[in-house]
Amino acid sequence: MSATRTILDGPALWSAQAHLPSVLGRQLVIDRGDGSYIHTSDGRRLFDGTAGLWHANIGHSHPALAEAAHAQMLKLETYHIFARFVNDQALQLAERLAGLSPIADPKVILNSGGSDAIDVACKLARRHWQREGRHSKTTILSREHAYHGLHAYGTSIAGLDFNREGYGTESLVPETARVAVHDVDALARTITRIGAKNIAALVTEPIQGTGGVNPPAPGYLEKVQALCREHDILLIVDEVITGFGRTGAMFATDRFGLDPDLITFAKGVTSGYAPLGGVLVAPRIWEPFYLDDPATPVFRHGATYAGHATACAVAMANLDILEQEQLLPRVVELEHRLDGLLKQLLARRPSVVDVRVAGFLGGVTLRDDIPVERAADALIELGFISRPLRGNTLQISPPFITTDDELTGFVDAIEDVLFAEEAR
Ligand SMILES: Cc1ncc(COP(=O)(O)O)c(C=O)c1O
Repeated sequence: MSATRTILDGPALWSAQAHLPSVLGRQLVIDRGDGSYIHTSDGRRLFDGTAGLWHANIGHSHPALAEAAHAQMLKLETYHIFARFVNDQALQLAERLAGLSPIADPKVILNSGGSDAIDVACKLARRHWQREGRHSKTTILSREHAYHGLHAYGTSIAGLDFNREGYGTESLVPETARVAVHDVDALARTITRIGAKNIAALVTEPIQGTGGVNPPAPGYLEKVQALCREHDILLIVDEVITGFGRTGAMFATDRFGLDPDLITFAKGVTSGYAPLGGVLVAPRIWEPFYLDDPATPVFRHGATYAGHATACAVAMANLDILEQEQLLPRVVELEHRLDGLLKQLLARRPSVVDVRVAGFLGGVTLRDDIPVERAADALIELGFISRPLRGNTLQISPPFITTDDELTGFVDAIEDVLFAEEAR
């Protein structure tokens, strides 16, 4: 019996979310981007059909964002926003985000990304109820198949069980529970079982991303919101993917007519040009922390890079590009086009069992005998990036600057791959 060999000759970098023996030796090293394309160090040019991890909304390597970062770093790289200190860029970005926010008159907490934002939102929800004196309201509900990042709270509330497992407890941070996806009655039963008096908040993506691109059934989110209100459960809408235009509205909260207590955002706020995320906070949550009284409590949260000045300057340049290049109306066109193309694909290819489109987000679910990982690898050979998601689903979420021809070419390439798979 031979002992299993340890791979000693790989790079020092420990890749994220990777089964290392499966990826080492076949890693794609990206060293350049232009618009909707990225380039690998071995000379390939690939259409970025996922916008990286749903982040590169305005496309790659936009000079305006590079210039914004350069100018800001020459002036001030950053200064922290603890206690009396703030920096001008964080102040300006927060004003601008407050103006775009679907929550009226919000306060804006800034940090470094989506997982951070989820941590803050869940902490703030618990802090809210402790401050109210409702001490047992500590449980955070989330939905089956949900993805909310991988910091301690995101790990704990993961609806993709493999992200929660292996840490010795059911939930890394105690007091979390999952509810069935898109099932209001199941949510009502869970609230009854756990007791509303023990539940602080429910976290939900408006359209599930990593869980397989699952748009809500009509009316579902509104009913969830009503149930939360009825039971004094805060509603946290996780817009880390959907925020800043991915659904054609600035926030999916607008698209679905919601009125959450907290909204988390990241990715699209800078289109990935700088690590930045945050939380929009409704007045009913922030007001008690702003009372002009020595007894007013402090929300004990912050990090060195919260409100990082260069990241904020880059975010403002990104918001300018969204406006100047009219990218939100373009997303509406792209949604309709993608919907038409995927419906044709479903009709033509027996290996496609379902397609879903909401905003410029699509999921193509393949028959079980065609592993989605193999289809994604074959697409790369044809020059297109997709990504395997839960449920044997291919992710489609290209940059907003994608042309009609590029989108057609991408879906044609998926069809070519499936045609070959069906003939295997
Ligand atoms: C809905 C959602 N929430 C949170 C996150 C975590 O964001 P980040 O990877 O920036 O920490 C993600 C990342 O994909 C996400 O899709």
